[in-house]
Amino acid sequence: MKEKSDIGLVGLAVMGENLILNMASKGYTVTAYNRSTEKVEKFINGRADGKSIRGAHSVEELVESLAKPRKIMLMVKAGQAVDDFIEQLIPHLDKGDIIIDGGNTHYPDTNRRTEYLESKGLLFIGTGVSGGEEGALTGPSIMPGGSPAAWEHVKPIFQDISAKVDDGSPCCDWVGEQGAGHFVKMVHNGIEYGDMQLICEAYQLMKDLLGMSHDEMHEVFAEWNEGELNSYLVEITRDILAYKEDGEPLVEKILDKAGQKGTGKWTGIIALDMGIPLTLIGEAVFARCLSAQKDERVEASQVLSGPKVKFEGDKKAFVDDLRQALLAAKMISYAQGYALMREAAREFGWHLNYGGIALMWRGGCIIRSGFLDNIKQAFDKNGDLKNLLLDDYFKGKIEAAQDGWRRIAATAISSGIPTPTITSALNYFDGYRCARLPANLLQAQRDYFGAHTYERVDKPRGEHFHTNWTGRGGDTASSTYNV
Ligand code: 2AM
Repeated sequence: MKEKSDIGLVGLAVMGENLILNMASKGYTVTAYNRSTEKVEKFINGRADGKSIRGAHSVEELVESLAKPRKIMLMVKAGQAVDDFIEQLIPHLDKGDIIIDGGNTHYPDTNRRTEYLESKGLLFIGTGVSGGEEGALTGPSIMPGGSPAAWEHVKPIFQDISAKVDDGSPCCDWVGEQGAGHFVKMVHNGIEYGDMQLICEAYQLMKDLLGMSHDEMHEVFAEWNEGELNSYLVEITRDILAYKEDGEPLVEKILDKAGQKGTGKWTGIIALDMGIPLTLIGEAVFARCLSAQKDERVEASQVLSGPKVKFEGDKKAFVDDLRQALLAAKMISYAQGYALMREAAREFGWHLNYGGIALMWRGGCIIRSGFLDNIKQAFDKNGDLKNLLLDDYFKGKIEAAQDGWRRIAATAISSGIPTPTITSALNYFDGYRCARLPANLLQAQRDYFGAHTYERVDKPRGEHFHTNWTGRGGDTASSTYNV
């Protein structure tokens, strides 16, 4: 154990403990501290016993034990607890010391804290940590943002403890300024909602339309996991479908009522605020909301009827179309998520490391998949890529997948099986590649009832026109009066 610790960690819940053990296993000396100090004793004498971990019983003792610049990572409850602990720390710290928040913080709080601590001469990092308890212990995906000057000091520790991809690259890199790390973690969670919902729609089509058994579905997911859809979520779905209780698939005994903690919702709200069409994730959040109305749905199912379709096509071909639909819709979801990050970077003045973000998600976290390598390559080729779909690789893939994707959407709709993410993704694709949308009519309507004015295709952009559509209204546009 070194005389001074490399880093201090506050908050000995399971994530905090596991991160400390991970750091110690990589040769770092860590000071552990917790508000209720009996947990420090328990940890030091228990899981931390014999490792390069020392306990602190006061904030003073914690600060005193650390090598400079001090690095103190908070793994406490998000919200007020973080602000309170920062206030406790400030009087004991010196210029250049670094506070790190590794909790599940909403990014505006990280923006605010970065600015506040920098104004005090301190440095701040807000970092997403993904991978759950096991990831924290064996290698999480780590997404740090905040004060750029802090990065060189924490980089070795964070990259050493993070997950690694096959070529040994760490799933941790600098994301960007202020709350960029927490923003990217939030988008990660939104994408996770989308990926999960897509898989669930595929499952429902296979089960309810094709009438496949759980063993058959297990085989399909096993096969998909060997190809382009290879991912942690496809892999666990494969295993879930094979899991039996008393000889019956356990998944069918589970109530179809989804929970959520709110990060998908945050992602959707921010997309609405920023005016970015994040339709797939939005639908995935709403699909959970609809599922949660279980009792109402059961009632409605007795009242409302839909088509009674029996599938008569080629099941094998349908399953392959389904694979294409999942792949295409997944591309849309990531394209939309990246568009949201791009807009946030523009709005907040962040310099986001887009390729690095794909690499951070490549291992250690729930959305880890081979697919992310292609995203990394797309941004390595063109760091200023407007939309993932415009990259040659993704353009080729989505064009190749679209016939199958359309067949799935059409069949699902005519069969009355809900596929909100598969179909909304297709609608985005068709909208995005449409040079002229019917918004000309929409602008006419707005001008008709609200004198909101319109631009014309036969006049320069930026010139606004108002028409007296009925002969009764005035000629005054709403920029000069409000109806
Ligand atoms: P505790 O053990 O003293 O409750 C997860 O809840 C972690 O956050 C725990 O380590 C918990 O400490 C810590 N925590 C919660 N609220 C806190 C606060 N206001 N100040 C410091 N730590 C807090």
